[in-house]
Amino acid sequence: MVLEILTYPNEFLRQPTKPVETIDNDIQGIIENMADTMYQAPGVGLAAIQAGIDKSIIIYDPDADAEKRDYNALLNPKIVSSSGETISENEGCLSVPDLRSDVKRAETVVVEGLDREGNPVKIDADGLLSVILQHEIDHLNGILFLDRISALKRELYKKKRKKALKKSEQ
Ligand code: NI
Repeated sequence: MVLEILTYPNEFLRQPTKPVETIDNDIQGIIENMADTMYQAPGVGLAAIQAGIDKSIIIYDPDADAEKRDYNALLNPKIVSSSGETISENEGCLSVPDLRSDVKRAETVVVEGLDREGNPVKIDADGLLSVILQHEIDHLNGILFLDRISALKRELYKKKRKKALKKSEQ
């Protein structure tokens, strides 16, 4: 089932998420729905909070090929170490419509969490995967990529977004 994606400035996106404590059918259902939503969008990653669910769940698929859905789910993911610096070019977010921007990110990250069966996993990521994981884990802490761009660009976007929302209300 495709879920509705919340967009900026919806305050729910700023909420910290709760850790998953029991991996039951509800959680599996949420993960399936998140995948339907991500591929439909289409996007390369999605955090549960973007679909209005305040749980610590992310999914990602750097290939984002809906024909062969090959995504991973991570529960309660944490960045345990990071190194280097890189610029992710033209980063975007399904919750921040009509904005693309370069974002300063760590080059590599080590992420720990649980897979959807509850097994502990540790991921050494670089390249696109590293950026996706940083972006999605930010969501779990109420942070949007918008917060990581220059203040000038952010203010311009806020104004543009306000105008667009006003227009759509009329
Ligand atoms: Ni996002």
